[in-house]
Amino acid sequence: MRISVIGAGYVGLVTGVCFAKLGNEVTFIDIDAERIEAINNKSSPIYEEGLDKLLKSVRIKACFDFQEVLNSEIIFICVGTPSNEDKFILLDQIEKAAKEIGQMLERREEYCVICVKSTVAPGTTEELVIPILEKSGRKAGTDFGVCMSPEFLREGKAVYDFMNPARIIIGEYDKRSGDILSKLYRSFNAPIMRTHLKIAEMTKLASNAFLATKISFMNEIGNICKKLGIDVYEVAKGMGFDDRIGSKFLNAGVGFGGSCLPKDLGGLISKSRQIGYEPNLLQEVLNLNDEQALRLIELLKKHISLKDATVGILGLAFKPETDDVRDSRAIKIVQALLQEGAKVKAYDPMAMKNFKKLFPQIEYVTTDKVLNSDAIFIVTEWQEFSELDYTGKVVVDGRRIEKARGARIYEGICW
Ligand code: UDX
Ligand code: UDX
Repeated sequence: MRISVIGAGYVGLVTGVCFAKLGNEVTFIDIDAERIEAINNKSSPIYEEGLDKLLKSVRIKACFDFQEVLNSEIIFICVGTPSNEDKFILLDQIEKAAKEIGQMLERREEYCVICVKSTVAPGTTEELVIPILEKSGRKAGTDFGVCMSPEFLREGKAVYDFMNPARIIIGEYDKRSGDILSKLYRSFNAPIMRTHLKIAEMTKLASNAFLATKISFMNEIGNICKKLGIDVYEVAKGMGFDDRIGSKFLNAGVGFGGSCLPKDLGGLISKSRQIGYEPNLLQEVLNLNDEQALRLIELLKKHISLKDATVGILGLAFKPETDDVRDSRAIKIVQALLQEGAKVKAYDPMAMKNFKKLFPQIEYVTTDKVLNSDAIFIVTEWQEFSELDYTGKVVVDGRRIEKARGARIYEGICW
């Protein structure tokens, strides 16, 4: 099929390159000149395992121009949906993309499908996107089709997750558009659930909110276990045998970060309040996550005074195998350390460049230098941290690095 992808970010790029790999003709439309140039030079503008190699093996193009929409059978909207300080999911990029597509619809006769893939609050596709598209004078469900099909890919595993989805959710405004999108996904070995637009939007938010709840739940259990002097990871093992609970996402630690879980949970909370329901449980999941990161500081204070102390940070990315620091727990921890008057030395195999944009005032050093600090925080579970020598050190571990137990003073955040 001929596909256009509006927004070549994490989701857009992986979506487009993988569909090209499956034999579709893909064009990216983005506002970022650097990103467009990189894609046309066959080099991936984001670090994602296997993506660069895949990009070099497919025929695709990237441009600014929405002209391509005139020629496409399916147009995916994958622009950013960041949130504001009140945690509302911002839809201005979606609105802009819909307007541009609408202007193209005026000039096309042939039916095509517009599919929202960015994470949006329930009702966005029906109440915002369709009215904008219909300003073209074309009618949704007749002249063009509309779908909402969320992505569930994880950073660091995005290509694998895209090609091996647990399920494909297709929210459809009209049956014809759902048929076309199902045909595009026909080669995927996954159940296809066809449903309403709002249900597809809510399924994405609820899925991420549930993953976040599992993590905050285990962190709370971990905090209790630590007080009881028992190991939460052993408890998680026992719990995980029950497939109603599932063994995944039970790793207690310093909390969840990234561009999705905190943002989507916040987006669901603010949408819920907007429609007059107070989501106490979801709010508590977020509160606990905010407090959990600061437990590292409280635990270290039991052993040393932080004023003028040098604290080393191992791990800045929100999780291993990515250079992404969006909403990383390291941000809260470094902020708090600086407020306490400590000096910070940090190391991360991939994310120092991105973290430096947020904290130019701290030192970025090698692991040796971090290990020579007065105390060490482990914030991201990069494999290489399991090979370091922690003998004689003071370590507060937020990510369960067994080797660190060899330290002179070792505190697990919730074990
Ligand atoms: C996006 C959404 O933000 C997220 O909610 C959803 O879950 C997945 O898709 P991501 O792909 O990580 O996430 O976004 P980002 O990396 O910010 O990429 C957005 C892309 O859209 C960027 O390449 C940006 O240049 C582009 N863009 C933004 C446009 O092409 N036009 C615009 O008007 C704005
Ligand atoms: C997440 C969802 O997994 C994915 O389906 C969705 O499309 C986007 O959001 P991602 O943000 O890449 O993906 O990260 P994920 O691997 O889910 O980890 C999220 C955070 O939770 C990380 O900070 C990670 O360290 C933390 N985490 C994860 C835990 O603290 N404990 C766990 O057991 C698992």
